[in-house]
Amino acid sequence: MRWDIGIDLGTQNVRVAELKRGPVMDAPAALAFREGKMSPICAGEIAQRLIGRTCEGVSVHYPLRDGVLENNFYAERLFHWIFQKSEGLKRHRHYGAIIACQPFSRPVQREALLNAALEAGAAEAMLVRSDVASALGAGLEIQGPEARLLVDVGAGKISATLFTFGRVAAYGYLPYGLNRIDERIQRIMRMDFGYRIGWSSAVEIKHTLGSAMPEKAPKDIIMHMTGISMAERLPMHFDVETQPVLDACEDVVKEIARMCTAVVDSAPEELSADLNDSGAVLAGAGASMTELDRRLGQALGIPCRVADAPATCAVRGLARIIEDPKPWSAMMQGRQARSVWR
Ligand SMILES: Nc1ncnc2c1ncn2[C@@H]1O[C@H](COP(=O)(O)OP(=O)(O)OP(=O)(O)O)[C@@H](O)[C@H]1O
Ligand SMILES: [Mg+2]
Repeated sequence: MRWDIGIDLGTQNVRVAELKRGPVMDAPAALAFREGKMSPICAGEIAQRLIGRTCEGVSVHYPLRDGVLENNFYAERLFHWIFQKSEGLKRHRHYGAIIACQPFSRPVQREALLNAALEAGAAEAMLVRSDVASALGAGLEIQGPEARLLVDVGAGKISATLFTFGRVAAYGYLPYGLNRIDERIQRIMRMDFGYRIGWSSAVEIKHTLGSAMPEKAPKDIIMHMTGISMAERLPMHFDVETQPVLDACEDVVKEIARMCTAVVDSAPEELSADLNDSGAVLAGAGASMTELDRRLGQALGIPCRVADAPATCAVRGLARIIEDPKPWSAMMQGRQARSVWR
């Protein structure tokens, strides 16, 4: 079977690669629907911009929640939108799609994801472990005997995978990602400061003031934001200081460090020892969080670095897999392949 398109469907973003063309799309995995209608009125960037601005009868949806499929209808609609937009697929009536999927998703969710791709128009669909795709995109030599540790920091999940000989030696995950920090920032602004802010403002605050090393973060930065004052019930300007944002980040960062430590701890001794040389590599857009690599390096006691263009590691890995899928067939699950997921 020839694979024409690879899709990294994330909780917040979807990234697409095509055979011979490489990565071609990086957009929010959002769809906006008018009530009672089966086709989205818009998708991607425009749909995401509607969050918090929707008028009556219009709602915005994402197919995934916390890294796994929540709604197969939205997944089917999103795949359909991607297939329609794809230049490379226009020349083919039959095309195969490889989709990156979290290893902790349940079998029923994987089945539903495959079905969604088939219903959207693919002749054949295959799932591949998303950590394998990310590791390939990050340039990790996972086929060799030395251990390689990949930490994928996403919006809806965070995972750590220890590879050796192209197989998974240890794996751990958190069923939430950096979006958890956005929710905390919104709650702190409401409960402690009396302002309601939208999700995109919370994301902006996280990106600007958030850090994984609170003690090193500059404390004198202030952001000027606009929110709805709960006392006045009117939009008002207010200042956001660094400390509450660092507090919102800290619990999540602590849990990431704890989860990664447990993965290294559960690995066979020789593999853990390899990590002293090879270190850990961070992928996923969340890997760009200020000082996250340094904090994890300290917690694990090994060198830690952020991959080049971390957000697109998984889709670049998919681009490699669709060019040459054979070596990775053990990590796939589809209509034909035998499932050997662990
Ligand atoms: N500089 C930054 N600081 C903090 N968080 C960041 C930064 N850049 C991106 N993020 C966060 O990374 C997350 C998006 O990561 P990514 O696009 O890898 O997720 P996803 O692939 O959609 O989700 P998942 O793989 O978890 O299902 C968002 O929560 C975003 O706010
Ligand atoms: Mg992702």
